[in-house]
Amino acid sequence: MEKETEQNKMDKIISLAKRRGFVYQGSEIYGGLGGTYSYGPLGVELKNNIKQLWWKKFVQDRTDVVGIDGPILLHPKLWEASGHKAGFGDAMVDCKECKKRFRADHLVEEAIGIDMEGENEKMNQAIQENKIKCPACGKFNWTDVRDFNMMFKTEMNGVEESVFLRPETAGAIFIEFKNIIDSTRKKIPFGIAQIGKAFRNEIVAGNFIFRLREFEQMEIEYLIHPNMDWEPLFEEWIKLQEDFALELGAKREDLRRREHSKEKLSHYSKKTVDIEYNFPFGGFKELFGLAHRGDFDLTQHSKYSNEKLEYFDQDSGERFTPHIIEPTFGVERSLLMTLISAYNEEEVEGEMRVVLKLPKKIAPVKVAILPLSKKEELTKPTMELFNSLKNSFVCQYDETQSIGKRYRRQDEIGTPFCITFDFDSLNDLSVTVRDRDTMKQDRVKIEEVESYLKEKLK
Ligand code: GAP
Repeated sequence: MEKETEQNKMDKIISLAKRRGFVYQGSEIYGGLGGTYSYGPLGVELKNNIKQLWWKKFVQDRTDVVGIDGPILLHPKLWEASGHKAGFGDAMVDCKECKKRFRADHLVEEAIGIDMEGENEKMNQAIQENKIKCPACGKFNWTDVRDFNMMFKTEMNGVEESVFLRPETAGAIFIEFKNIIDSTRKKIPFGIAQIGKAFRNEIVAGNFIFRLREFEQMEIEYLIHPNMDWEPLFEEWIKLQEDFALELGAKREDLRRREHSKEKLSHYSKKTVDIEYNFPFGGFKELFGLAHRGDFDLTQHSKYSNEKLEYFDQDSGERFTPHIIEPTFGVERSLLMTLISAYNEEEVEGEMRVVLKLPKKIAPVKVAILPLSKKEELTKPTMELFNSLKNSFVCQYDETQSIGKRYRRQDEIGTPFCITFDFDSLNDLSVTVRDRDTMKQDRVKIEEVESYLKEKLK
């Protein structure tokens, strides 16, 4: 797709997301608060469905993964041990003329096409030598490139040092390692999973809900024996991550893997791969990540807490510090990818139909239940049908505007099935069931509707 059309598509998705109640700008009536969003009545359902699908697939359906829900506020020492306090952030550069701040690596890469992330001196030189101008005001007057810590700081009663909002969920998992081993008696290899909020004071948030300052992660710390042949397991996890993206509706050709080069790899990581998605803004960007973290985390937390974080294998009598493979997923990036993949425009009888072809299992509303007219002789039995189906499916009752407009509205929010109760229904005790994707309509006996839908929504 060409750049302008891609931007156009993004604008349409953002507008639909607001108009239909998926996503709103955070604190909008006060002028907005950058990098924060609210999820409306449909957004919260879609987000919950994505998280539930993940939890079922990676925790409940597996015998080798257990879940936890740790706090957002964690002991300040944790961030010293993990290295976040000393060096979690990006390098920034300020325009002295218009006072706008940029991520230095993004500024350089956009101007000269070279990724210099982590090399501040080189970026300073590149900005000067290439006379890179400020993208906002067009002037050339920069501060030096400086490191910027992205953790949000706060104060807590009774704690002398500053406390931080966690910038990733992983930390809360590492420090519960001992409790989990003691309380579950799980044998290695096994994983610990968590879904929860993370906060990063990003230098530049943007691209709708792609880069946020408050977001959610779904992470697993998978513990293995240090001598394990880990490469096949690593490959298995990448495939599982790709499968999850496909299950949310991504097309195979819109996914790719990007392995971090030796120079970019953290000193403790044996291998890190990003699973990228072809977003309509700027092409392939990180969707999920997978990293071999070695024994870095458990060793560091052991050192800083003075607690032995080792595993004792009762069969072999061996004691060791496990290594960790970490698959990580962003909730909002998953949601954004889902909306982008599902968005379709089709011409139907000379009119444009906008339809979200969401995978049925994550659609916020499964069945819309519509009386053909607002007359009580129809609304009463339609409401009875709603009441009889609501325990089996998420249903929406709607009696406003023409039936055609109601169908289009349900198409726009991705509802897989619409049921219309018309005047004939009073006599033939049947209703019309319309399929979102094919727009094909079936006449189904009211007493069979529930089993018909159960079969179709399987
Ligand atoms: N524990 C590893 C970790 O946090 P990461 O690559 O920094 O790794 C993991 O983040 C995932 O979290 C990313 O793949 C992305 O989906 C999501 N993510 C990271 N920063 C984000 C942000 N500012 N806004 C939205 N999602 C973000």
